[in-house]
Amino acid sequence: MKIVNSVAELDDGCTFVPTMGALHAGHASLFTAARSQSDFVVASIFVNPLQFENSKDLELYPRTPERDIEIARDSGATHLWLPQQSEIYPDNFTKRFAGPIGEIFEGSHRVGHFDGVVTVVSRLFDLLRPTKAIFGEKDFQQLFLIRKLAKSSYKDLEIIAAPTVRESDGLALSSRNIRLNKTDREAATVIFKALVAAKNSQTLEEARRVIFEISSQEPLFKLDYAEIINEGNFAIATQSTLKQRAIIAGWLNGVRLIDNMEMNLSSETPGAR
Ligand code: PAF
Repeated sequence: MKIVNSVAELDDGCTFVPTMGALHAGHASLFTAARSQSDFVVASIFVNPLQFENSKDLELYPRTPERDIEIARDSGATHLWLPQQSEIYPDNFTKRFAGPIGEIFEGSHRVGHFDGVVTVVSRLFDLLRPTKAIFGEKDFQQLFLIRKLAKSSYKDLEIIAAPTVRESDGLALSSRNIRLNKTDREAATVIFKALVAAKNSQTLEEARRVIFEISSQEPLFKLDYAEIINEGNFAIATQSTLKQRAIIAGWLNGVRLIDNMEMNLSSETPGAR
């Protein structure tokens, strides 16, 4: 694997996996998926200040550079791009806005977060000019907004979604999990339990109820939002929504955790669906 600091050392046409480092098995699965598509896989590591709505979270974001290089190399990246902030954000860079869907759910709790995400992703795409780019489903609202960005501004770029990788007890892998102590780590399983209980529900109404009930049974977990949405437009799912997804987010001792799961639920309304 070749490590570069400037995009000038990279050709166009790669399969791209952008990251903010603190790599784990979830990222490794993205590199492996990318490598199955192409022999030219660029991973980038850039901790994007624009997507952190407070400086404390940016400061606390884990940084594990040596391990990151090993993981990227061992799981299929052929090139690792470590840009300087001046390459991504020269004085005249254009700020992007995520639009209304960037302001709901995760966006309403992290004001400006998705504007920062679409800005950095468009800068990375403009500089690197990849053919394909892979993003994890764990950040489902991010994936939605990046697909929308690509549809409007990068028509030849293929966006590929990769499934969430989980620990054996169901916790979705996240760079932030490193910050959970043993008690918090055990408490964190409430998120997966709530999603599975929702999936096993008979109706949308029951699913919404059980997500709130189960999340409130874990006193350490502070729920921010839970909802079942339409994957196509992020509206609240109804009985006629074909692609439903439960999304959930909250805090465990100062660590923000998010997750989501596909659902297939009817409504209590008789004869619906
Ligand atoms: O998902 C992430 O790690 C980041 O939001 C991304 C897409 C690399 C942009 O900074």
